[in-house]
Amino acid sequence: MTEIKLPEPTVKTLSKKSTITLVAGKARVLSGQDPDFVRADIGELCAPGLFPPGYKESLEETAATVMTEGRIGYTVPDGDNALKKLIFKHSIPDELQALILEKFEDEAKKQGVDFEKYKEDNMQKHVAVTHGGTGALGAAVSVFLTDQKNLILVNQRTWQNHNLIVDMHGGMIWPVPLIDEQGRVADPDSILKLCHPVKDRIAGFLYTLINNPDGAVITDPAEQAKLERIIKELGVPLILDVAYHRMVFNGKEAQPFSPDVLRQTVVCGTYSKTLQIPGERLGYISCLDPRVARFVYFYNRSHSGCPSVSPQRGLIAHLKKYETAPDEITDYNKKLLKEIEARRNILVEKVKEKLGWEMKHPGGAIYAIIPLPADLIKEFGDVDKFTLDLVDRGGVSAISGTVFEFRVRSTNNGYEVYTPLPTSPEVAYLRFCYGFTPLDRVELAVDHIKNFLVAR
Ligand SMILES: Cc1ncc(COP(=O)(O)O)c(C=O)c1O
Repeated sequence: MTEIKLPEPTVKTLSKKSTITLVAGKARVLSGQDPDFVRADIGELCAPGLFPPGYKESLEETAATVMTEGRIGYTVPDGDNALKKLIFKHSIPDELQALILEKFEDEAKKQGVDFEKYKEDNMQKHVAVTHGGTGALGAAVSVFLTDQKNLILVNQRTWQNHNLIVDMHGGMIWPVPLIDEQGRVADPDSILKLCHPVKDRIAGFLYTLINNPDGAVITDPAEQAKLERIIKELGVPLILDVAYHRMVFNGKEAQPFSPDVLRQTVVCGTYSKTLQIPGERLGYISCLDPRVARFVYFYNRSHSGCPSVSPQRGLIAHLKKYETAPDEITDYNKKLLKEIEARRNILVEKVKEKLGWEMKHPGGAIYAIIPLPADLIKEFGDVDKFTLDLVDRGGVSAISGTVFEFRVRSTNNGYEVYTPLPTSPEVAYLRFCYGFTPLDRVELAVDHIKNFLVAR
């Protein structure tokens, strides 16, 4: 029998290779064999003993209902209305909520109706429930990508799936050196210059509020002003990835966006990280323009159908606690942040003390960049070889910089995105995820790296 003939773009997608897949595959096996193996590769959050209030109880209740009813039905494709309202009230960024409420006030006045009633009847129109943050980002980019405008501007150091999501929706990322690990934004003119050759082809700007892999977050108003200038001069919609919303350390907060920018913003959120439920696949989109949320109705129908129903019920139960037991919610959020901040501090301190390597304190999220000395990389051949060897013989899994760095270059017929070579200094680092590493194992991971280096 002849083989099925696959089109060229499909074959190209299948040929994509990434150290992340290799590392995770090895780590899964090795951590099963060796209880001392430390997994710092998976971008998940797990804080033993801490679980979002209301969630587990709801799952139990749903399970019991399913047993008696013998079925689980659909919700509407863009999520249960009750859930959308709770997301509006308790999850979306405060400034966006304020902007939408302002719009409601105007509209209610014009129509001569009661504001509270108008708000209650309309808030769900500005939210859609998605299949995780990934589903939110996929929907958001597909709102704006067209044949003429097929580029999405991103920071050149970004979550690998941003590239994949844009690519699989027919677009291409346009990476620029926008923001460094410390949350410092590049000179706006230099960024605008890099965008100039393709200015008319940029469909949107995908910006991560708290970055994966380096935890970069803007907490300084002067840096935020630079970012705002870039966004305003480009005049494109902002797709704001808030996957690590409010996970900022040292008592700081991410800088808010101005109403001008927020009017052109689609917020993409997820509960995977903050609620430690990545497998439940729940995220959301929110926008001042209700057409964007409405688009998700069609996007979900064509990509995934409605988000899973048991998790939607769990999230409803959790978000209701904001109203019935706000102290429990504050306690959960505080304890979670304290736990990951403590892990971050141990990591930075121990890497310096035991390995003698300087590394920066990430501003938020669950990741840190550990820069690797050039001579070490040279000895192993390249950073990917070092990373894989560390998994095989060192008992620690982290991800090398090759996974998160994107650049663009011109070709005969346009531009292409590429990743710097694994021998390049730009990728000579490890992304260490301390979200999944319990507090008492962060130092163990550093000890493992040290032993690995000594024994090599
Ligand atoms: C920056 C960023 N955005 C979005 C997501 C999406 O998360 P999920 O689709 O698992 O909800 C992730 C997950 O790692 C992420 O790191």
